[in-house]
Order: sequence, then C-alpha cells, then structure tokens
Amino acid sequence: MNSTDVYDPLSHQSHEDPYPAYTRLRDEFPLYFIEAHGVWALSRYQDVRDALRDWETFSSAQGVEIGDYVQFFGEGSIQELDPPRHDVLRKVLAPRFQSRRIREYGPLIRETADRLIDGFDGRSRIDLGQEFTQRLPILTILQLLGIPQDDHDWAASAGLEMLRRPAGEAGPSAAAAAIREELVDYSIDQVRRRRVDGMTDDVFSDMAMGVEGGHMLESEIQGLTLLLIAAGMETTSSLMGNIAHVVATGAVDVSALLDDAGEFRAPAIEEFLRFDAPGQWLARVTTRPVTMHGQELPVGSRVLVLFASANRDPREFARADELVLDRDGARNLAFGEGVHFCLGMPLARMEARIGMGRLLSRRPSFALDGEPVRYPSHVIRGFESIPVLVS
Ligand code: HEM
Repeated sequence: MNSTDVYDPLSHQSHEDPYPAYTRLRDEFPLYFIEAHGVWALSRYQDVRDALRDWETFSSAQGVEIGDYVQFFGEGSIQELDPPRHDVLRKVLAPRFQSRRIREYGPLIRETADRLIDGFDGRSRIDLGQEFTQRLPILTILQLLGIPQDDHDWAASAGLEMLRRPAGEAGPSAAAAAIREELVDYSIDQVRRRRVDGMTDDVFSDMAMGVEGGHMLESEIQGLTLLLIAAGMETTSSLMGNIAHVVATGAVDVSALLDDAGEFRAPAIEEFLRFDAPGQWLARVTTRPVTMHGQELPVGSRVLVLFASANRDPREFARADELVLDRDGARNLAFGEGVHFCLGMPLARMEARIGMGRLLSRRPSFALDGEPVRYPSHVIRGFESIPVLVS
C-alpha cells in the first residue's frame, strides 16, 4: 500500500528540504508510486545504483525528466540516448573531458576565479551566488565550447533563462523555449564556421570534426550543446554554492577545507557532493517487467532514481545525515553510475577545487547577510543568490 503524500518531487516542500521525505521513502516505501505524476521513485543506495547500471532495463531513451521537460534538450543529447548511439556521440566529446586534457584548463579557471574575486574589491556586501559560484562555471563552459568572449554575457544569460524550472511547474515557459531556439541556431552557426574557416581548439571544433567524420549529424549539435551548457552550469555552481552557503553559516572551520597549495581539499568536495547532491534525481523508463520490493513494474514505467536519497542511505554510509569532511565519500552517486556516468566529473572537481580554493584563500571570512535564494528548479539543488558580508 502506498501513502499518497510522502513525496512529490515538484512540491515546494521538496524544494525547501526533501531529506525528511527521502528518509521515509527509504525506510517505508523503497519503491514508491507518486500518483500525482504517475511515476515511481527508487530511494535506496543499492536500488539506485543497480538501476543506473542496468541501462537495458532502465532506459534513458524516453527522457530523464518528468512532465513537459522530457527531452527538453532535443536531438543529440547523450543523456537521453541509450547505446549504441549514445556511445558514438559520447566519443565525439570524451577526449577533451578526460582528466589529463581537463588539467590544461586549470590556469584559465584560476584566472577567471581571480578576476571575479578582484571584482569584490572595495565592497563588503557581495552576492556570492550571482557574482561567483554561478559565474565561474558558466564562463568556464562557454570558453570550453569556444563561444567568443564578446558573446559571453549574452550566452550566460540565455543559458540561465533556458534552465529556469520553477518548483511546482511541470513544463518550460515560452520564454525558456524561445531562448533555447536562439542558442541552437547560434551553436549550429558556430560549428559551420569552423568547418568553413578552419578548426580551433574547442568543443565546437570537436563537433565539427564529428560531423565531417560522419560520427554525428548536424542536427545533433543541438542536444549536445544544450546538454553541455546545462550540465556544465547549474550542477557545478550548485556544488560551489552549497559549499559557500555552509561556510557563510559558520558551520565549518575554513582552515580545515584547504590543502597546503590553497586548493579545496578533494575529500571535502566529495563529501559536499554526497551530503547535498546538486542533481537530486533523474528518470528512467522500464523496457521489460521488473519486480522490486514485491511490486511488479510494467513495461514503460517511468522511475525516478533519487541520487540524493541514495547518498544519505544509512545502509551504505555511517552517520549518513552528517557532513563528515574527511570521509572517503568517493563511492557516492552524485555523478551517477553506469554508461551515463558524468562526462564532466574531472572538470567539475577541478573547478570546485581551484575556484573555492581561491575564494577561501582570498576571502576566508564571510557571513550570510540576508536570505539566500534557491535555484528555481525541482531537479537541481543549489543557490542562485547568496548575499554575504565579507570581513
Ligand atoms: C558537481 C557537478 C556535476 C554533477 C553533480 C553532475 C552530475 C551528473 C549526473 C548525475 C549525471 C548522470 C545523468 C544520468 O544518469 O542520466 C551526469 C551526466 C553528465 N554530465 Fe555531469 N555533473 C556535474 C558537472 C558536469 C560538468 C561540469 C559537465 C560538462 C561540462 C557535465 C557534463 C555531463 C554530461 C555531458 C553528462 C551526460 C553523460 C552521458 O549521458 O553519457 N557535468 N552528470
């Protein structure tokens, strides 16, 4: 039997604090039917991990969201494809996102972080969300893609507007859909230019070579680009914003967060990811009947995999509801698992290590100065505004 009101991913309660509901789900309803949306939810670590590993049964090909957001990015988005097409397109992007290549972007990230922090000079009131934790990931992904400097302001605002997913609403606004079209036309044009004028060292050139080599279609530029903008922006900014928020509340000792080189300590990053996963959940659709916890799911059932709940499962993690900064949290599911495992993990980790390292080295002391504002999203958990007073 199901209770109807334990958990609704679109509710304001889930937006504010989903964790009490996750505890109830794991303990009482490990396979839970959310009547309001006609979807199921898996909340225990093992179930989430097993489902993510079994892409043949739990398919991404019908979209990984719910409501009208399903397949929002469109053709080419590898997140919404199963193998074999998924693997072919992922290979177009993969070389640039490997740890070794990504390390080459370290100086650029440091420079961008320092420029943003220079912008705080002479002021004690700063919005760390608007001015730092959101800006650094956006500027980084725009540079990786190869978007020219002059277009950064436009592209950053367009990306943010496209991603506005208000809690409680099951579909994108007309404005978000219109901006998405602008971004798509712009990206196709950028790739065409590289094919005509010559390749440069960026993701648009990787795609241009992918098209020329017959590995991808021009129509697939859309999904790949929009996915990279979305995945590159809001998740990493949520990770950094969640860290900044905890620091601003005075809950942690800043000196314990940095290593000797002034970078944010790697295990602490993993623990913040475990404790408050930037991507709370995504969906899959079953391709065959599955029986779990005594319940049969028919073919075509949409199932939410709750990464954030899995990461707080006491069956897997001791003191699961506590932030334990030196915990070995590497096996948490914040970056997913299986064929869709996060392509941007090395980049996200490096941005957080360098970015938060620079921020806390140069401005080690700040406190909340007003109400922080969460992202208007039911999937992403992070802050768009974190007003602080720097001392
Ligand atoms: C802290 C930051 C990040 C978190 C928590 C995160 C989380 C995730 C998760 C959970 C998935 C799996 C999706 C699924 O199973 O359906 C994923 C996939 C993906 N992520 Fe990330 N991500 C982060 C940063 C990034 C960055 C910086 C990029 C690149 C610019 C990126 C690019 C991608 C891509 C392209 C995929 C799809 C991979 C595929 O379907 O094969 N992510 N990410």
